[in-house]
Parts: sequence; structure tokens; C-alpha cells
Amino acid sequence: MHLTRDEEDVLAGESGAVKQKSMEILVALGDIYNAERLVPIESAQIAGVSYKTIGEAGLEYLTDLSGKVVVPTMLNPMGMDRYKWREMGINETFVERQLAIIRRYEMLGIDAQCTCTPYYVSAPRAGAHLSWAESSAVSYANSVLGARTNREGGPSALAAALVGKTPNYGYHRDENRVPDISVRIDFPLAGSDFGALGYIVGKMVKSQVPQFSFVAPPNADELKALGAAMAASGSVALFFPKERAMPREIIELGRSDVDIYSSSEPDVVVLGCPHCSRSELADIARLLEGRTVARPLWICTSRFVADRSSSVISSIEASGARVICDTCMIVSPAFEKQRMMVNSGKALEYGPSLCNSHTFMGTTANCITAACTA
Ligand code: F3S
Repeated sequence: MHLTRDEEDVLAGESGAVKQKSMEILVALGDIYNAERLVPIESAQIAGVSYKTIGEAGLEYLTDLSGKVVVPTMLNPMGMDRYKWREMGINETFVERQLAIIRRYEMLGIDAQCTCTPYYVSAPRAGAHLSWAESSAVSYANSVLGARTNREGGPSALAAALVGKTPNYGYHRDENRVPDISVRIDFPLAGSDFGALGYIVGKMVKSQVPQFSFVAPPNADELKALGAAMAASGSVALFFPKERAMPREIIELGRSDVDIYSSSEPDVVVLGCPHCSRSELADIARLLEGRTVARPLWICTSRFVADRSSSVISSIEASGARVICDTCMIVSPAFEKQRMMVNSGKALEYGPSLCNSHTFMGTTANCITAACTA
């Protein structure tokens, strides 16, 4: 990979050991994937934040870092709501270790908004190069917003944030942003159906780039659910909501192919994977109006969105449901080993392996009915 004189100096250690190590990571990646150069990025998003997932080893790794990020950088969800952790049943040792992780990131100049929907806080422009790690956010940035990011690991996104650049390969390049396969759906879908569809399609297409033909165009929340599920059950980082090229292969799916909903009885119902938008919170408030929950119902969103949705959240919480920020059902230890009902294809994929929970999916309306039924 070609480096400029300034980049060579960073690699030689002239900007300190941490930037040198970061540049080494970026150069190694660039060499593996045949990038010809680095490109400047406009933002970064770092995964590997919850103490549940990174543990003491992750905290130690962060403790050894110094310096400051040079582009706006946000974090993925951590293991608890920073204010409601007691209600979530999180123990004080976990809280202390989790807050130590957040402090380490803040010392690097990172904005400690912990969300998988950083695009609600600050949406990247179409064409912007990014270095984002959260797979659902990568999918949304590439496919809905037209920005350009590979699916980074925690260390490579952090290295890019510290250097302000990333190797120009993969989804940064035009030639890789083309569909491989068409998925044709000839029946109407709505809401959580898109998460169910993504769960099925991700398993079928794996890391290919699908394009879709729908009966009616999905809205942004539905595209978010579709992309998140495909990124989890497969490793799709880019898709096209409309057909735009002649594909090599066509998949046609009928309604029964995507009917993965279950009517099992849950211990807990958790919504908001990825973190709810303002319109999703409003839908949940409408579905809960005049009802009282009979079993725990948690709703995950970002603090940014929550701060702008206070009346909707009051209305949701009047039912006994709780809205939590900074965290989610998968990266928090609060939801482990339970029968967990979700409205998300991504949570359906990760619940069994990362929470050791019997996880099943319903529509948002069915999840709320289950939460309100004793
Ligand atoms: Fe976000 Fe957690 Fe789902 S990070 S995408 S809510 S698994």
C-alpha cells in the first residue's frame, strides 16, 4: 500500500507509539486486502464496549492506550443503562468495571454516546468514508445513507479513529458496491416482517450483496431491521432496497418462507434492536395506550433519541414498561438465561449464543400483547 510522507512518519513512530501501532494495524489490513492507499474518514464508531463482551482483557487493552481520536467517534452499546442499572439488576462490580471502560474511551476523546444507531445522532453524508464497527450501523450507512464503510472490528475502527484514515478497499470502492443476487418478494411486508425477512435472507446470501424487489417500498425503520438481521444471520454489509442491475442469481420467497414468528410464552419481552427511532417509540406508545404490562417489557434506544422523546417515553412507562438507554438485550447481562421475546431478526440470531436465552420472535404488536398478558 502506498503511504504519503506524513503517513510514513506516523508509521515510523514520529507521532507516538499509539498512533504508530494504529498505523501498523491499518497498513496490515491494507496489505491483506490489496488497498492501494489510505482514505480520510469522516467518523468512526467503536464496538467492544460492554464489560460483558470485552471483560478484563479489553479493559487492560484500553488502559494501555493514549492520545486522541481525530474524527468524531461514538461507541456501541455498553452493558447497562448508566442511570437505571439498579432496575436492570446489574451488580456494582459490573457497574464499576463498565464505567472504567467508558472513562478510558472518553480519555481518548470519544463521545460516550453508546448506541448502535449513531446515524440518528449525526447522519453521515452520502459518499462519506467511515470506519464503523457495529454491523447494523454499517449496513444502514452503506445501504440507506449511501456512505462507505467496511465492517470493522473494534481495534481497526479505533485505529482508524486515532489516525483519521482507513485503507481504501471493500465497500469504500465503487466496484464492490454492486449487487450479486436478487431477492424477490411478491407479498406485502410491514414492520417486524422486515427483520424476519433479513434473518432468512442473511442465512441464504451470507456475505453477498443482495438487491430486493418489494411490493411496496420499505420505510427507513424497516430497512434498518432488514439490514441488521442480514448482518447478523449472514454477514451482509451492503444491500440495495431496489433492483438496479441484472443479478447472477434470483431468489424468490413466499410468505411461508419468512414466517418465523412464535407464540411461545416469554419471561421477558425486549424491543429496540437496533435501538429504536423516535417513530418506533411512538408506535410502541400507541400500541401500549391504555394497557398495563403483566411481565417485564424493556425498550432499548439511544440517549440522544430518548432525550428528544420524553412525552412518548412517559406514555410508554405509564404502562409499566421501561425504556433503557446506552445498552441492549444482547450486550447487557440483564437478559441472560430467560425466555426472551423480541421483534428483531438480529436479536433472534444472537439471543441464544450471546445471552444463553431461549429467544423467539413476534411482531411488535404481538410482543406487546404478550407483555400485557398474564
Ligand atoms: Fe444494537 Fe444490541 Fe441489536 S447493539 S443492533 S440493539 S444487538
